[in-house]
Amino acid sequence: MENKILIIDDEKNILSILSDILKDAGYSVFTAGTGEEGLKILKKEDINLLFLDVRLPDINGIDLLKQIKKEESAVEVIMISGHATIDIAIQATKLGAYDFIEKPLSLERVKIAVTHAMEKTNLVKEKDELIKINASGYEILGESKAIKYIKAQIEKCAPSDSKVLILGETGTGKELVATAIHTQSTRKTAPFIKVNCASIPESLIESELLGHEKGAFTGAVSRKIGKFELADKGTIFLDEIGDMGLSCQAKVLRVLENGEFERVGGLTSIKVDVRIVAATNKDLLKEIEKGKFREDLYYRLNVMPIYIPPLRERKTDIPVLAKHLMNLFCRERGLPTKEFEESAMDTLSNYSYPGNIRELRNIIERIAIMTQDEKIKTEDISFIVGTKKVDDIFSESLSLSDAQKKLLKRYVETQLENNKYDMKKTAEALGIERPNLYRKMRELGIQK
Ligand SMILES: Nc1ncnc2c1ncn2[C@@H]1O[C@H](COP(=O)(O)OP(=O)(O)OP(=O)(O)O)[C@@H](O)[C@H]1O
Ligand SMILES: [Mg+2]
Repeated sequence: MENKILIIDDEKNILSILSDILKDAGYSVFTAGTGEEGLKILKKEDINLLFLDVRLPDINGIDLLKQIKKEESAVEVIMISGHATIDIAIQATKLGAYDFIEKPLSLERVKIAVTHAMEKTNLVKEKDELIKINASGYEILGESKAIKYIKAQIEKCAPSDSKVLILGETGTGKELVATAIHTQSTRKTAPFIKVNCASIPESLIESELLGHEKGAFTGAVSRKIGKFELADKGTIFLDEIGDMGLSCQAKVLRVLENGEFERVGGLTSIKVDVRIVAATNKDLLKEIEKGKFREDLYYRLNVMPIYIPPLRERKTDIPVLAKHLMNLFCRERGLPTKEFEESAMDTLSNYSYPGNIRELRNIIERIAIMTQDEKIKTEDISFIVGTKKVDDIFSESLSLSDAQKKLLKRYVETQLENNKYDMKKTAEALGIERPNLYRKMRELGIQK
């Protein structure tokens, strides 16, 4: 959560002094000399706080305030003016301005106003976050033993400050579990900061996590507050930690050991109070063997491990998730809810889901869109059994007759599966006699 401030004032002096002060305090600052320019920036950037001059060359600041409050109500506005009258100040406050500061600006007054206004915007943001988290999309669903155990583990460890390491294949719900740990903890009103260690280039991750000082390296044009600092009093979620490079691991280890670090290029040591939740789909013990993950970091992190098994190992969760997701998608689109026929649910349950719940979500969304009927039949989901296998036929180079044979084999296998290996039904579905089906199966090398 980066805090961005916009200053709209036609006095160049004010723009440069204010922006220096605010940049030093660690904010990202944007400036505009006219109302029109300012509006453009407001539309483009996610601004938290606006300093707005009352007298602008192109528009009256009070009128602009009115417009902004109507369109971008999340932005807090501090009015500044050199010719303030009590009337204008009252009017501004009534229109929703957070504060009113007279020029010449007092440094102290500005700093206090900014801190308070930021606290307010962050509270509002957090409230919105929490509301989102509580929405049905964030519930951990499932009735398998594994899910019940995971929920019990979350309940137990969330209130403590213990480090948690979440393990599981891609799409199994690691981020969901991390979010649940934060929202069920005593830190729930403080920030929950996510860092995807795999998506940040090795050269940038250190400054991303620890921050940097102005001029620490080429391109460090202003001070940057790192994720550890942003997460102070809250939780940091180090996602894909198995992909973090060794030099960064050493830095993180130091933060974990001392709760202290310096920004890149900085000398002062910064102390933070942060709870660590990490996740990976890699086997960290193997990574340690390969020399790619530090053993000491592993033992530091692995205080409370939570393992989420892949969906194929907890098949009883599939119907629960499928029904819930179908209701969700249909409701979102204003469609009547669709029901799965038993055989269709069997097909869904027997698929292997290499992409786990994320893949199941995609499949259900596709069915919700593609199926007109309110009853979902096996045919409607035959694509999940078919597509993947057919795809690898396309990536091979086969003679036409071999390709034909392979495709035919897949097709007959799919029909057999869909009909639960009932020969009579399968033969009917294929429009052939039963003895012919047996012959075809022998020909194609399909085991009964
Ligand atoms: N038990 C569950 N109940 C409901 N939804 C779930 C559950 N597990 C996962 N999901 C949903 O599946 C999707 C993938 O989950 P998530 O992003 O948490 O997985 P992940 O393990 O972090 O995946 P990756 O390793 O790819 O980052 C999300 O939309 C999530 O809400
Ligand atoms: Mg994830």
